[in-house]
Amino acid sequence: MNRTEELEKRLNLLVRFGGLVSTETNLTRLLQLIANQVRDILQGDRCSVFLIDSKTKELWSKVAHGLEETEIRIPPGKGIAGYVATSGNIVNIRNAYEDERFTSELDRLTGYRTKTILAVPLKNINGKTIGVFEVINKKVGYFDRDDEGILLLIGSLAAAAIENAQLYESLSKSQLETIYRLAVTAEYRDQQDTAIHLRHISEYSGSIAEGMGLPEKEICYIRYASPLHDIGKVAISDAILLKPGKLTTEEYEEMKKHTLYGVKILSNAESHLLQIACKIAASHHEKFNGKGYPYGLKGEKIPLYARIVAVADVFDALTMKRVYKPKWELDRAFEYISDEKGKSFDPNVVDVFLKMESEIVNIYKNIDGKKTLIPGMHNF
Ligand code: C2E
Ligand code: SIN
Ligand code: SIN
Ligand code: FE
Repeated sequence: MNRTEELEKRLNLLVRFGGLVSTETNLTRLLQLIANQVRDILQGDRCSVFLIDSKTKELWSKVAHGLEETEIRIPPGKGIAGYVATSGNIVNIRNAYEDERFTSELDRLTGYRTKTILAVPLKNINGKTIGVFEVINKKVGYFDRDDEGILLLIGSLAAAAIENAQLYESLSKSQLETIYRLAVTAEYRDQQDTAIHLRHISEYSGSIAEGMGLPEKEICYIRYASPLHDIGKVAISDAILLKPGKLTTEEYEEMKKHTLYGVKILSNAESHLLQIACKIAASHHEKFNGKGYPYGLKGEKIPLYARIVAVADVFDALTMKRVYKPKWELDRAFEYISDEKGKSFDPNVVDVFLKMESEIVNIYKNIDGKKTLIPGMHNF
């Protein structure tokens, strides 16, 4: 391939790159995508994307080929990457081990042999360095001027997408944390095991959604939105909510309004996540046969999210101690869910739930090995 052809090919890859990265808002996936694209475009063997931690000034990377899933941290100024971050200069070297700035620690960690390195600063639109790209071991020959230019260009495209994803993550994390703290005061003002309940609802619902083959995004929404289903209980008096015994008819009528109070709290939210939470709050006590509340919606008229959370909610209520009831044995709870198939619950949801019995039991016993999915939840 001559130089013109080569440049044209790269231009095409670049256009594709711009399209790909502008739609990904999950930071880790975005970084993975960028690393793969950069490696392919520059014909390197590996690529690492380092970001500057604004608090500690360290460079960190969760995405470095050869170090899948392991987060690495480099002290400010250390190594080639540190030099690039601090100086803002490009580094293009032919033999890493002859460069005194190079640290071979990563190589030792991965059992890899770095030879050529092209490292450029990642600058945002204001010219501030937010990270470093490193491409390692060009497949053929050495990195050249064209490579430098193209990596800088990719860097400017990537920086915008990275900042966007960082903003999105920090926003939704702090928003979510506020919301979950509210959910705790609302629903669990009587209870000790708050975090456990939220986690159960989130994971039972998420696992059912996964088992039903819903798209990843929907699964994510249901995981985050489901713990808010009873947020309307914030408006229910202690005398009713915390009553140790059975509710009178009147008290139960008042209690049923927690669904509508929830809608009041969550409606008009701009966030898509909260709109889903709103549907769940509204409809998680509807029954498949139309005998639920608040509206007596039937079958598919009940949003799928709510049909899923209904099963998760009742299973959790049965298998945990409440002020008004002791906890049930797991077998009895599974039997109850099974008996209510087509009555309280969507038969498809029940089938999936029962098929996943062992996974559900693992969540219940807290041995599913997954870390808490809700940001900040471990702080409760
Ligand atoms: P919750 O405690 O989160 O229970 C959610 C749902 O789980 C209940 O919705 C019900 O469908 C199911 N469930 C819970 N415990 C039992 C049980 O012992 N047997 C059966 N068959 N199902 C059970 P429901 O009934 O519409 O209640 C909504 C909320 O009203 C409950 O949420 C709880 O906060 C409150 N509540 C219901 N009954 C009583 C009660 O007798 N005393 C008190 N203090 N609160 C109650
Ligand atoms: C360095 O930046 O000096 C080492 C990093 C690497 O080998 O990828
Ligand atoms: C995510 O953290 O990837 C998704 C959170 C959200 O749906 O807002
Ligand atoms: Fe409820």
